[in-house]
Amino acid sequence: MVSQVVPVEPFDLVVFGATGDLAQRKLIPALYHRLADGQMPDTARIIGVARTAIGREEFRAMASKALETHVAAADLTDDLRRRFLDCVDFVRLDVTGDEGWDALREALGRDENRVHAFYMSVAPRFFGSIALGIRKAGLAEGNVRIVVEKPLGHDLESAQALNRQLGKCFSETQIYRIDHYLGKETVQNLMALRFANTLFEPLWNAQYIDHVQITVAENVGIAGRGPYYDTIGAMRDMVQNHLLQLVCLTAMEPPAQFEPDAVRDEKLKVLKALEPLVDPAQVVRGQYRANGESGSYRQDAQNPDSHTESFIALKLGVSNWRWAGVPFYLRTGKRLRNRLSEIVVHFRKVPHSIFQGDHSHLHSNVLAIRLQPDEGITLSVTIKDPGPGGMRLTDTQLDMSFSSGLKRPVHRMPDAYERLVMDVIRGDQTLFMRGDEVEAAWRWSDRVIGGWQGQEAPHPYDAGSSGPEDALMLMHRDGRRWREIAT
Ligand code: NDP
Ligand code: BG6
Repeated sequence: MVSQVVPVEPFDLVVFGATGDLAQRKLIPALYHRLADGQMPDTARIIGVARTAIGREEFRAMASKALETHVAAADLTDDLRRRFLDCVDFVRLDVTGDEGWDALREALGRDENRVHAFYMSVAPRFFGSIALGIRKAGLAEGNVRIVVEKPLGHDLESAQALNRQLGKCFSETQIYRIDHYLGKETVQNLMALRFANTLFEPLWNAQYIDHVQITVAENVGIAGRGPYYDTIGAMRDMVQNHLLQLVCLTAMEPPAQFEPDAVRDEKLKVLKALEPLVDPAQVVRGQYRANGESGSYRQDAQNPDSHTESFIALKLGVSNWRWAGVPFYLRTGKRLRNRLSEIVVHFRKVPHSIFQGDHSHLHSNVLAIRLQPDEGITLSVTIKDPGPGGMRLTDTQLDMSFSSGLKRPVHRMPDAYERLVMDVIRGDQTLFMRGDEVEAAWRWSDRVIGGWQGQEAPHPYDAGSSGPEDALMLMHRDGRRWREIAT
């Protein structure tokens, strides 16, 4: 099979915070895979930056260890590892000080045509100093991009302040705001499914769709980042960004082109059309309690009185012609029964059944777009049960599982960061959030969060369950039910 990979031009990627978890666990392995697949040229350079007193060789040893830990043994060869580590360099620099920037300038070289990308893999409080440092060091000229990642503020005001801070040093076209959900293969596939097929788009509206469910369930708890997580909770950690982005891609109008501003304009319209959640009954917050071996949220958070939610379910509406009256049910939580992320579109029932007999066991068509695990798309359809016995109807699944459904075998699903980092180098902002999008998402989220201030504590749920009972009621009240988070 001919390689599908389009190599990128040689680049210099500076990773601030290169000794940290995100860089070691995600970025370095992602870049290795891009080199292995022939997309990253051997002349590219990855320049790690941190305060730790190490040199180039020690950092290479650290990167090598990261590869051993996070790349499958079958994909890690001595030759590729050596070629990758040859691209890696290190500069010791405290981003809050003045020293070290000259060394970084030296390491970068002076080729203004070469892409210089600066990835801020550090706490957001450093974004401002890094932006200023880059400018003061004279590194902001030429083909420069900067990459930032959540948390992009903790409310509208702080998100606006961050946008202003970045905007002082860089133009919007240079700023790449990562939401790693947009780099997931199936999320991009949602756009392909909707806009590269004639089949779905004519039905993609209130006339044919009954409701949409979006679930991002995790079986892990918050241990390890407890005290930090306790200051944010599931609404800020997951809904404001990842889940709202999924709502946007599901609900947006077809953009005129698959082009950054065309796509982001349409997503922004969805965010602006989100109905305010004024009815407290439309939001259910939960907090996991101990169950068997699993400790409670409050133990993990080291806060015996915590009122922070580790689970949230909510019902939202999109106020426009396409979606009027179609509820979007969202839920996400930690320590749930299983790890499962999916967007599920439930179509309406046929208006009249011509078949005799009891068909109450039959469902309407359901399109499930599974982000993880086992990425793929299934469509449930009603067919005649094969064999004699008259016109008996049954439900079946058309399974478009990516691991089995493609002509070309998929050896490995690329991690979201592989796609996103290469898009930064290519200069393609389509899968990155624009500043106004982030602000619109906070504007809506702030009102939801404001709505529960001073209210009761989150509802407890057993670790390993599907969340609190009240979350089930959120749908039962409407005569609907959540898809099972199967084990
Ligand atoms: P870590 O705490 O693991 O790493 C922080 C990094 O920043 C270290 O390399 C540290 O190195 C460096 N650093 C800290 N202070 C300075 C300084 N003054 N000058 C230069 N370097 C400094 O954090 P993570 O890697 O987990 O996260 C980084 C950012 O990415 C955070 O904002 C996080 O919220 C976000 N993020 C993380 C994800 C993850 O999976 N980890 C996922 C999504 C977002 P040293 O101490 O040697 O200077
Ligand atoms: C991060 C959240 O943004 O996404 C984490 O901060 C969460 O709390 C993670 O665990 C989930 O990402 P994924 O790709 O594992 O679904």
